[in-house]
Amino acid sequence: MAFRRKKISVIGAGQVGATCALMLAGRGVGDVVLLDVHEGAARGKALDILQAAAVQLFDSQVHGAGDYADTAGSDVVVVTAGSPRRPGLTRDDLLAINAGVISGCCREIKKTSPEAVVIVVTNPLDAMCFLAKRELGFPRERVLGMAGILDAARFRTFVALELGVSVRDVQALVLGGHGDSMVPMPRHCFVGGAPLPELLSPERIAVLVERARRGGDEIVKLLETGSAFYAPAASVVQMAEAVLKDQRRVLPCAAWLEGEFGVSGLFVGVPCVIGGHGLEKVNEIEMDETERAAFAHSVDRVRALVDDLTRLGL
Ligand code: APR
Repeated sequence: MAFRRKKISVIGAGQVGATCALMLAGRGVGDVVLLDVHEGAARGKALDILQAAAVQLFDSQVHGAGDYADTAGSDVVVVTAGSPRRPGLTRDDLLAINAGVISGCCREIKKTSPEAVVIVVTNPLDAMCFLAKRELGFPRERVLGMAGILDAARFRTFVALELGVSVRDVQALVLGGHGDSMVPMPRHCFVGGAPLPELLSPERIAVLVERARRGGDEIVKLLETGSAFYAPAASVVQMAEAVLKDQRRVLPCAAWLEGEFGVSGLFVGVPCVIGGHGLEKVNEIEMDETERAAFAHSVDRVRALVDDLTRLGL
């Protein structure tokens, strides 16, 4: 049987994209192509990662590119291209700029990697996933957005710090849209098998939920330029690895819903089984009244974002 190494392309060689490329190569999940409109940045960073491989001894190939021909036949394509939030740029401006970037990238991906599983990272995430799916025309199994793993990682981190325990033993679930309407689910957070509400007061849990909700902003303020990239990249890598190794991991991801949780025709963060085909299944879970209301509010926010695309003619 012929052996073929997996191929992963990362579109956008900025902070998130380059960190993804480094982590993917370091985990040896396949060969990586890093592509950017600034071809020099992609080629320079790819070369730098390859030289790190010489020291850290990983054998993935890493190639920098400016042309989609080099990404042809990818198993997974990660889209991080776009413009970051900048002072003076309105929300609508950013939506319009990144919509153009995503549509352009997806037109090329459709031609060059028609069988790929595409993972969208660019913000505003739920709207960019919507555009990506429309442009790609791929089945819902092969278009996913990265958000829930990152949001849950933030919540897990704060719980672990609060309790002074290893983050390894903290499991959490965050649903809904990516951003401040996300829905952390404390009832579904377990610390070494014990439900979080048995370990912390409702007041402390509320403080940690709020910090997780604002987790991205906290980092933006500290950095002054740019936004978080290590944890976002690590979250992408977990999704990509689940696909490339057909792990059937249960991970919170933005998925196109077709009636699950009472929602259709939108990307919303839900618990997904991720395997070799991409989305294998959406796991529907029971919610109590408060959770259901928060989820419904979050879905309304995602729908408003998608309506903005129509309003702006995008
Ligand atoms: N095609 C390819 N690359 C592009 C394109 C395009 N059409 N447009 C922009 N890029 C590249 C830029 O040249 C830049 O290298 O995308 C990269 C974006 O990198 P950064 O500005 O460093 O942004 P980053 O921090 O990586 O975030 C990327 O992920 O988490 C989200 O909100 C974040 O939407 C943002 C995205």
